[in-house]
Amino acid sequence: MGTTMTRLQPKNRVLAWVEDRLPVLSFLNAHTSGYYAPKNFNLWYYFGSLALLVLVNQILTGIFLTMHYKPSAELVAPGISAAFASVEYIMRDVSWGWLIRYMHSTGASLFFVVVYLHMFRGLMYGSYKKPRELVWILGMLIFLALMAEAFMGYVLPWGNMSFWGAKVIISLFGTIPLIGDSLVEWIMGDYLPADATLNRFFALHVIALPLVLLLLVVLHLGALHEVGSNNPDGVEIKEKKKPDGTPLDGIAFHPYYTVKDIFGTGFFLLIAAFIIFYAPTFGGWFLEHDNFLPANNLATPTHIKPVWYFTPFYAILRMIPSFFGTAVWGVIAMFGAIVLLFLLPWLDKGMVKSVRYRGTGYKVALGLFALSFIMLAAVGAGVTAEKIPEWFGEKADATFIENLFGRFWTLVYFGYFAFIWVYTKFGFEKTKPVPERVTTHD
Ligand code: HEM
Repeated sequence: MGTTMTRLQPKNRVLAWVEDRLPVLSFLNAHTSGYYAPKNFNLWYYFGSLALLVLVNQILTGIFLTMHYKPSAELVAPGISAAFASVEYIMRDVSWGWLIRYMHSTGASLFFVVVYLHMFRGLMYGSYKKPRELVWILGMLIFLALMAEAFMGYVLPWGNMSFWGAKVIISLFGTIPLIGDSLVEWIMGDYLPADATLNRFFALHVIALPLVLLLLVVLHLGALHEVGSNNPDGVEIKEKKKPDGTPLDGIAFHPYYTVKDIFGTGFFLLIAAFIIFYAPTFGGWFLEHDNFLPANNLATPTHIKPVWYFTPFYAILRMIPSFFGTAVWGVIAMFGAIVLLFLLPWLDKGMVKSVRYRGTGYKVALGLFALSFIMLAAVGAGVTAEKIPEWFGEKADATFIENLFGRFWTLVYFGYFAFIWVYTKFGFEKTKPVPERVTTHD
């Protein structure tokens, strides 16, 4: 057990009465003051608590948005749906509505910033390895649920990119042999994204998926506290204990890490406030320009592309060519890119967790993997398509150059998984000795 559950006996008689029947305080105590975390956490360990903070922000601001939003594609003025109009109403007429909406839309993007950094920390310190495989798997399930949640939320304002984004993404299911077309119709509830689609996405976005997310987060933390946190040295602190049974290199989560996390929270809120107040669209990256136009099934946006956090996966989808008359391969590759992350605990057979003590090959591979993710994000977001004529001249074959670039980084992305399997399975990795205890810089 990573936590010690001592039964508390509160002095207050009411609390004591409750505690005897339902030990809530003892439970909370066991997971805060009674939870020992390694004393060498660094900056990378802020992102778990920050993800929790953003989740709470999304739920609270979402509740207030729901009070004024109308999930209806019915037209209330020529070309303007009730959904689109209700979002404009929130922005212009509801007291503080603009703030609530910008907190929610900025929160969505910051959620992914925080979660991607949180996942990268897991890769750096081998936090997905035994005994934390389940913590990782639950994290990956959270990631999937989060992507579904963000996608459906993006459809709700019923802007032009909501409409076309929904059409493109749902149509991907149409590439599945035999059942594809019926599946697309079943998901949309119509032949195009329409009122039925908007209604079900609303239901899933405001209640079904948030419940799933909350449950998964509770399980994620439960699984983590069972085995205990990893740390930047990748040393198992439970192996060296004090006479009282607590880890020699551990400190109580509360008050030590609650204080540290409050500091991180303050810093994070400063950045968030700056974006919310001064750059809420973030130059079209957090709220896209095309989505300030109402949905129009006769006017396709010039470049249909998802919000930045989906663009690496969208680039992989676009970079895989059609074979045998079907585009299903791109869809398989895109989902495969996520499935491989799920399998990471079993693909990486290295005995050393932290990148600090791993072989040079691993360090280079991890760096290239992170770079491939950024490069693919640029391809998916259309940055390369825009810049190629500038860099190579108007006459250059832009599609050819973009495909070459995008396919190279797609290979690097997938190559990472193949490489670490071969590198660790066949004994190529030359690791450094891992210290007995965590290295602290005091
Ligand atoms: C709503 C999203 C999420 C929340 C609220 C959340 C929350 C947390 C918290 C509070 C911790 C402990 C503090 C820390 O280590 O930073 C943690 C640890 C961890 N999380 Fe998450 N997490 C989320 C998503 C994910 C995702 C998407 C993954 C990866 C696929 C993931 C993998 C991990 C791992 C491996 C650890 C243990 C790290 C270690 O001990 O080194 N989490 N998470």
